[in-house]
Amino acid sequence: MSETKIAIHGTGFIGLVSGCCFAIKGFKTINSTYDQIKCDQINKGETPFYENGLEELLREALATKNFKCVVGRKYAVLNSDVSMIAVGTPMGKDYSINLTFIEKIAEEIGQILQNHNQYHLIVVRSTVVPGTTRNLVGKRIEKLSGKKMGEDFGLCMQPEFLAEGRSILDTLEPDRIIIGELDKKSGDILQKIYGVFYEDHLNNCPILRMNLESAELVKYGNNCLLATKISYANEMSRIAELVPGVDIVQVMRGVGLDYRINEKFLRAGVGFGGSCFPKDVNAIISFARAHGYDARLLRAIMEINEDQAKHTVDLLENELKEVKNKKIALLGLAFKPGTNDMRFAPSIRIIDYLLEKGAQIIGWDPVAEEEAFKIMKNSILYADKIEEALLDADGAIIVTEWDEISQLQPNDFKKSMKTPIVVDGRRILDPTKFQDEITLLSIGKR
Ligand code: UGA
Repeated sequence: MSETKIAIHGTGFIGLVSGCCFAIKGFKTINSTYDQIKCDQINKGETPFYENGLEELLREALATKNFKCVVGRKYAVLNSDVSMIAVGTPMGKDYSINLTFIEKIAEEIGQILQNHNQYHLIVVRSTVVPGTTRNLVGKRIEKLSGKKMGEDFGLCMQPEFLAEGRSILDTLEPDRIIIGELDKKSGDILQKIYGVFYEDHLNNCPILRMNLESAELVKYGNNCLLATKISYANEMSRIAELVPGVDIVQVMRGVGLDYRINEKFLRAGVGFGGSCFPKDVNAIISFARAHGYDARLLRAIMEINEDQAKHTVDLLENELKEVKNKKIALLGLAFKPGTNDMRFAPSIRIIDYLLEKGAQIIGWDPVAEEEAFKIMKNSILYADKIEEALLDADGAIIVTEWDEISQLQPNDFKKSMKTPIVVDGRRILDPTKFQDEITLLSIGKR
């Protein structure tokens, strides 16, 4: 059991997963939210969103009696030594980062610390543009508490690298820990916590310490490079499509075997989505622009990504001659398998483009229908089963690589569709098995 008590402000992926993990590792942990319904749900052992293994982990955390969720920040701050900030930093209307929630939590912590005479460490875990931790969080807390950073309270920025669907594993077994620190004391406290938390895992997981702003930029550097790899693979797939017989899957496998590159995130397809890559790449483009630099490479990455959704529709349209009034089945709606998350999902861009062209769309997804409905409402139809989506369809587009879709056989398309024309936007169907049976149009293979 560790003596350090931890408050985590926010109950999203980072907040809730970290809270549960700290609890099972023996830390007294309090998660705070403003949502009474969410709070009650969590304390009952129900997760407010779907994440692989999280419900079991939450129950385990509750059973240790080290973990609870509370409404409001005061109790959590006053009953802890460390406050971790894990609130959302969504994309604003102008594509820049929206720091409203960060600003609010900093002000609340500042007010609470006013009458608190114990040293408190504040750790920003949310993704924030360089300068935010020091100039917004630190200074706002100083202003409202009347205390001095570096003396009365410490400040760290620890970026988070967990991916949805594997966030527990990523939290329990990260490949590195980045500690951005205001001063040595702040960094030492956080490093000590992770010494207890990770024990032997630290033999395979370096802890890198740096200043606050560098740590903030590591997170963007990471997500931008992963997004770059995807847009690069997508660009190469367009070049591959110009040459008969070339297959992007083989090409990227060949490229990825270079020890300096590696094969991960080189899967060409309908483009990337999710709550992180589009938001973060756009945020850092806006940040650079506001500081007088035009981030041309990153702009191109977003452009290629947008274009890939259109290209998927164009492939189908070329084959059908037109998609107007045609019934198009979309297989998969979530931004990736293993989640019901629809934020910035490629399916949204594909649907918008298809609707613009007058197509009738029926979508199928094993878990994301409810979330999809919140965005698409009745502009598309929803199928309960894949066969229902394919029934009498003029064409189909594979948008998410769910197992149920990769297991489909040529006959599943032939027996249901009016014309079996399928665009494989995720390269999960084996062309050699399908190409003589149906019209299969694979991204990155003419
Ligand atoms: C991503 C990062 O992988 C995490 O390290 C990071 O912590 C997280 O963002 C975040 O900033 O919070 P996530 O958005 O959950 O995690 O999902 P990924 O698995 O990275 O996939 C993102 C998108 O890229 C998906 O739409 C996926 O289909 C697409 N993708 C991924 C490709 O199109 N091709 C690939 O080769 C890999």
